[in-house]
Amino acid sequence: MIIGGSASQALAAEVARELNDKLCSVETKKFPDGERYFRIKDEICEDEQVTIIQSTGYPQDENMMELFFILDTLGDMNIKNITLVSPYLGYSRQERRFKEVECISAKATAKLIQTMGVKHLVSINLHEESICDLYDIPVNNLSAMPAIADYIRINFPEKKPIILAPDKGAENFAKEIATLLNTDYDYLEKVRLSPEKVKTKTKSISVDNRSVIIVDDIISTGGTIVNAINILKLQGAKSVDVVCVHPVLVNDAVLKINAAGANSVQGTNTLKSEVANISVAKTIAEHLKTL
Ligand code: R5P
Repeated sequence: MIIGGSASQALAAEVARELNDKLCSVETKKFPDGERYFRIKDEICEDEQVTIIQSTGYPQDENMMELFFILDTLGDMNIKNITLVSPYLGYSRQERRFKEVECISAKATAKLIQTMGVKHLVSINLHEESICDLYDIPVNNLSAMPAIADYIRINFPEKKPIILAPDKGAENFAKEIATLLNTDYDYLEKVRLSPEKVKTKTKSISVDNRSVIIVDDIISTGGTIVNAINILKLQGAKSVDVVCVHPVLVNDAVLKINAAGANSVQGTNTLKSEVANISVAKTIAEHLKTL
C-alpha cells in the first residue's frame, strides 16, 4: 500500500503504477487558519507493509506536520511496517553545528520521524551522506543521476556535452552522469592567482565551443548556477543547459538562470516545480522492490 502525502501525491501515484501497488485513498486539506487535516479513506490490514511518500520541502513545517499526522494515524491503526520515502528531506542543510548552541535541525527531525514509527527511510541525494548517521533505523540514500542521465540521453541526442559540476562538492554527480553517458566531465575550481585575485575556471577540460550541461543536487537561489554560467560563457562554451535533482528554486531562480544565458533548466520531481520534468518514480520503485 502506498500513501502519498500532499507534497508528493503525483509521484506516489506514479510509484504505485510502477509497482502495480495500491495507492491509498486519502483526504488532505487546509483549514482557513492554515492548520492541516488528514484522513485515510481505505482499509489497511494491521500486517500490511505501508510506504508513505512525502517530500518535506517548502512549506517545510506544514509538510513535516502532515507527515506526522499520517504516521500518527497509521499508529492508531496499529500498522507497524512503515517505510517513509521522503525524496527531498527538509532541514537537511543543518546537519551539524556551524555556530555554538545552534539547533541541529536535521537531528531534531530525525528524532521525530523515528519516534513517530518510521522503520525504514528512503531519500534521494541527501544533502550530506552523514545525515544517515542521525538515524537509528536503516536509511537508503538513492541517486537520481541515472534518471538525469536518461533525460540527457533522450533530450540531447545529437550533442556530446561536457557534464559540469559548479563546484568540487558536486563533482561526483557529474562523474556519475558522464560515466553513464560515456562523455566528459569536469568541475569549476577557484584558483588563487595572487593574494588579491581569484579566478574560477574548469579544472581540466576546455569548454571552448563545447556544449555544457551543468549538474547540481540543489538549485535554491540560483546564485551558484548563474555564477557558473557566467564563467562558462566567458570561456567560450557553445551552449549551457542546467539540470538538478532538487528544484528548490526560491524567488526568481529560473528567471535569473535563463537571463544568464542557459538554454534550459530542468529538475526531478522530488519537489513540485514548473521544471520538475525528470521523474524519479522508477528509481524509487526499483529500490522498494528490493526491500
Ligand atoms: C551546495 O552545497 C549545493 O550543492 C548547491 O550548490 C547550493 O545549495 C545551491 O544554492 P544556490 O542555488 O542558492 O546557489
